[in-house]
Amino acid sequence: MRVLFAILLIATIGSNQTLAGDAAKGEKIFKKCKACHVVNEEKNKTGPHLVNIIDRPAASVESYRKYSKAMKNSGFVWDEATLDGYLAAPKKYLKGTKMAFAGLRKEKDRADIIAYFKSLQ
Ligand code: HEC
Repeated sequence: MRVLFAILLIATIGSNQTLAGDAAKGEKIFKKCKACHVVNEEKNKTGPHLVNIIDRPAASVESYRKYSKAMKNSGFVWDEATLDGYLAAPKKYLKGTKMAFAGLRKEKDRADIIAYFKSLQ
């Protein structure tokens, strides 16, 4: 019985680590990115467009010429974990990135914005 309880506890803690995101809230949070990014058409602004960003390799928008060396050499693929890390603290997660954005400090905000990106794909 105790073992079963322990397993349940571990399973619960584990599932808490991936917060369920809310796409509608994520769309609102995306306003913070809009000065530099478009997500619904392949148009670059200060930053590259973010069409199909989930699972897209980093620095892969060919029409965007301003990627940093750090981004080009990162080898990142924008899966959920990588997006979560980068959006939390861009300059810490990728030293030398040109993205002038302080980061989304709240884990829930990041989960919501990732849910929003997923809803578009
Ligand atoms: C002040 C402008 C600015 C803001 C605000 C901004 N970004 Fe960026 N973003 C950039 C720039 C510039 C780059 C290219 C960075 C590099 O090459 O190092 C970038 C790169 C990215 C990339 C990598 C794209 C690729 O093709 O590899 C993602 C993902 C991203 N931004 C998401 C976001 C999200 C989500 C937000 C809002 C929470 C945001 N950015 C806010 C300017 C910005």
